[in-house]
Amino acid sequence: MGRMPNDHDPSEGISARLGSFSADSSDPPGLNDYDSFAEGYAASNETGFVHAYYERPAMLALAGDVAGRRILDAGCGSGPLVAALRDRGAIVTGFDKSAGMLEVARRRLGDDADLRVADLAGPLPFPDGTFDDVTASLVLHYLEDWGPALAGLRRVLKPGGRLIASVNHPFAENLWHRGARLKPDYLATYNYTVEWTAGGQSAVLRFWARPLHAMTDAFTAAGFRIAVISEPPVAPDIPRELLPPSVADRQWIPGFLFFVLHAS
Ligand SMILES: C[S@@+](CC[C@H](N)C(=O)[O-])C[C@H]1O[C@@H](n2cnc3c(N)ncnc32)[C@H](O)[C@@H]1O
Repeated sequence: MGRMPNDHDPSEGISARLGSFSADSSDPPGLNDYDSFAEGYAASNETGFVHAYYERPAMLALAGDVAGRRILDAGCGSGPLVAALRDRGAIVTGFDKSAGMLEVARRRLGDDADLRVADLAGPLPFPDGTFDDVTASLVLHYLEDWGPALAGLRRVLKPGGRLIASVNHPFAENLWHRGARLKPDYLATYNYTVEWTAGGQSAVLRFWARPLHAMTDAFTAAGFRIAVISEPPVAPDIPRELLPPSVADRQWIPGFLFFVLHAS
């Protein structure tokens, strides 16, 4: 048992307990049930260190000036990134596999928000070449095979459009699993389960870990050119009371890895 190093701090109401490892691809029912977890996750995501002062500011900084751009937010969850991009003048569509998460998103964004239930692993309900950018915050690592998902995202992007993505950092995952004495094989693609509790609600989530080269190979195989690989710092405006001791002590290891990819 263990926790991701330095990322999910109990002070924001999220805790994670590491479960089993497997290379099994079957998708047992009851896993990744964000519907049962939506309210708790959304509340923690809104204001907690990891999302509000690390992941989301990093995605927005990588996106830069988005005024007037048509953006698809893949795995948009409860919609915090959709809201932030919209506030910056983008025209944003979001999709997520979880109807429960989209219900929370709709409350936040209003009835006229363009939100769809769709599976990143399946065909996407958008015409070719629709979007200037796709954002994919913390969603790709739910998939074993990134090939079909990346091909789908590439298809809906305009030529030269960008995919901006954040995923679990493979080195941080490996350290975490080593710390839990699970002897992870860094070069393997394997899944692991985590029991998450957020805002008093729990869910068992299953993530797929893979080495860095498997990520970059998947991006290039899908027709993307890698423009940026980033390990951004915590946002400087983080309130002192939310600052994890590891960040203050300069012992923090980034939990996520960020990419900007161009549809070539
Ligand atoms: C960690 S949350 C991140 C939500 C949002 N991107 C954010 O940063 O606030 C992961 C989201 O991915 C969604 N998700 C997981 N697998 C998915 C899939 N195959 N297709 C679409 N959405 C998926 C979940 O329902 C959940 O809302």
